Amino acid sequence: MWLMVASVPLLPAVLMVSSRFRVKVSSLCHRALAWALRLVRGKVCVRSIHAFVFSNCTHGKADSVLETFDLYAGTHPSFCISPQTAEAVDEVVRRVRPSRVLELGMHCGYTSVRLLRLLPPAGRLITVEQDPLTAELGEEIILVSGFKHTQFQVLTSSSAEAIQTLHSHLEPDKETSAGLDLVLMDHDP
Ligand SMILES: *[C@@H]1O[C@H](CO)[C@@H](O)[C@H](O)[C@H]1NC(C)=O
Repeated sequence: MWLMVASVPLLPAVLMVSSRFRVKVSSLCHRALAWALRLVRGKVCVRSIHAFVFSNCTHGKADSVLETFDLYAGTHPSFCISPQTAEAVDEVVRRVRPSRVLELGMHCGYTSVRLLRLLPPAGRLITVEQDPLTAELGEEIILVSGFKHTQFQVLTSSSAEAIQTLHSHLEPDKETSAGLDLVLMDHDP
């Protein structure tokens, strides 16, 4: 089984190479801004993003949830991944067709929802978030998007701690051995 590891900060670099350096300066600026925002992530109000998305999206519709996140990011400082990175993540997921995904760094649940909507019905996402409030609000957003607890699990711990307990969260499949097909790293390493 192929294991793909995608690191969000590295994706723009991958994109840059694959598009033969046709990446626009604006996209690089966007990355720099995103990095700066990440440094102050503790100060960005997770509650405000959650309240905005929760009250403005169509419940049960993952695409509406994602659109509402984008709407928020268009007018407020937000530490969601950039549209370019989001596209790159989608592209990797469509290519790898994973059924078990590990996401390190859930934040508001934006990327979790993006990942889940591309997984097969029997697919499963394990997502890790260190901050208990962020984890709770992010989990609610995933549920609001229409996904069930059989499809995802939120681990509230540091990535290092979560990785050590992963084996207990991955029951072996009938055919394949227990394992992950894709790891998305968007945590503070
Ligand atoms: C929902 O969206 C409207 C319009 O974009 C905005 O003014 C309002 O504050 C949002 N709701 C919440 C709870 O953030």
